[in-house]
Amino acid sequence: MEAIVLQLSPLASTMRTIYHNIGSMQTMNDIDSLSKGKAIAVKDNKIENIMDSIDEFESSDAQFIDVDGRSIVPGFIDGHSHLLWAGDRFNEHNLRMQGKSYAEIAEMGGGIMETVRQTRKVGAEELYSIGENRLKNALRYGTTFLEAKTGYGLSTEHELRLLSVVEQLKSVQNLPSIHSTWMGAHAVTPEHTYDSYTDEILSDQLPRVLESNLADSADVFCEPGWFSVEQSEDILRASRKGGLRLRMHVDEFSDGGGGELAAELRVRTADHAHHTSMDTRMKMKDAGVMTGFLPGTPYCNGDDWPNFAEIHNHDIPFSMATDFNPNCHISSIPFIGSLAVQRNGMSPFDALACVTRQAAKSTPRSDGLEQGVIKPGAVANFNILNSKHWESWCMSPASSPVHSICLEGTHIEF
Ligand code: NIG
Ligand code: FE
Repeated sequence: MEAIVLQLSPLASTMRTIYHNIGSMQTMNDIDSLSKGKAIAVKDNKIENIMDSIDEFESSDAQFIDVDGRSIVPGFIDGHSHLLWAGDRFNEHNLRMQGKSYAEIAEMGGGIMETVRQTRKVGAEELYSIGENRLKNALRYGTTFLEAKTGYGLSTEHELRLLSVVEQLKSVQNLPSIHSTWMGAHAVTPEHTYDSYTDEILSDQLPRVLESNLADSADVFCEPGWFSVEQSEDILRASRKGGLRLRMHVDEFSDGGGGELAAELRVRTADHAHHTSMDTRMKMKDAGVMTGFLPGTPYCNGDDWPNFAEIHNHDIPFSMATDFNPNCHISSIPFIGSLAVQRNGMSPFDALACVTRQAAKSTPRSDGLEQGVIKPGAVANFNILNSKHWESWCMSPASSPVHSICLEGTHIEF
């Protein structure tokens, strides 16, 4: 369904919009997160004020949006997505049913390498349109900001091509804004070993990526069978030296030392982390490393979830994201919320924190505006839900709970 973008006049972007008749609202501010009967004033792309009454604006030329008692939550931040690739790998499900693991499927030539082959065959225009459709889909489920990784190019030329398509997508209006992550260290092509490809990354790919100025962060798949702890460390240190923020994929299938490296390097976020030991989790916490849980991946692979309650009890900071990729076709943050809440006993509030203010810590905006909260001065990104109950954000796993969106100050109805 096409989204309707409501703008009153060409000057609409400089006007004030007042959202009123709000049922419940979770602002995700530390104090008084839950409020009722408030109104929000939006000016340009920022939240101007949160008010008890709209009287002061009654005779102004502000645009009024009556949300009819619906609830409001911050726009969702998808802090981990492999946005750009072509083709699909649905055939691999059959192999999983025969008992083949993710690693075994990769060894047979499937997995990431199969998607690299399919992606390289497709032109940049088609990749752009694939990306645009995926962003529209994510927006329909309330995602207002998204991290997009490369990693299906695996050569200097092809990784730079993916980064340029992401850059083009960044400038499209009325779609989620993007944090761009270079993930050349995702796997290797058959002509390389992990050592020889790491050398190539360090001597050629990374310098070219830095020169292009197209990446905000660097990510490495640090896992036994993929990049070793040593190779990951070399790539991450060189990336940091070049000015990139650091992210990691760690301990997805086994505790292979990735979490330890994440703590040592104080990376911004270490994701998956399903098999990280409690001892290492504590080291990551002390080092200020966010853990990015991706419950959609074990859902799609038929694997178990980590013990979220135990991790929560140890006050370990974590966020959640979709991990959208050819092995995990999930672009809905509300579905991730449903897995956490309806399958794993997390509270709707804690789960919401994971995909808003927690995700904002690992995935910042390049303009420095605060996001993941509804408060004066923060970017005007929030979701108007179908229900008057804010908890509804994660309780309709098979359909979008989102009625309409304020995206960077622009009102969008579906
Ligand atoms: O985060 N684990 C590494 N990367 C992706 C999967 C990529 C793929 O299978 O194509 C992930 O799950
Ligand atoms: Fe991933």
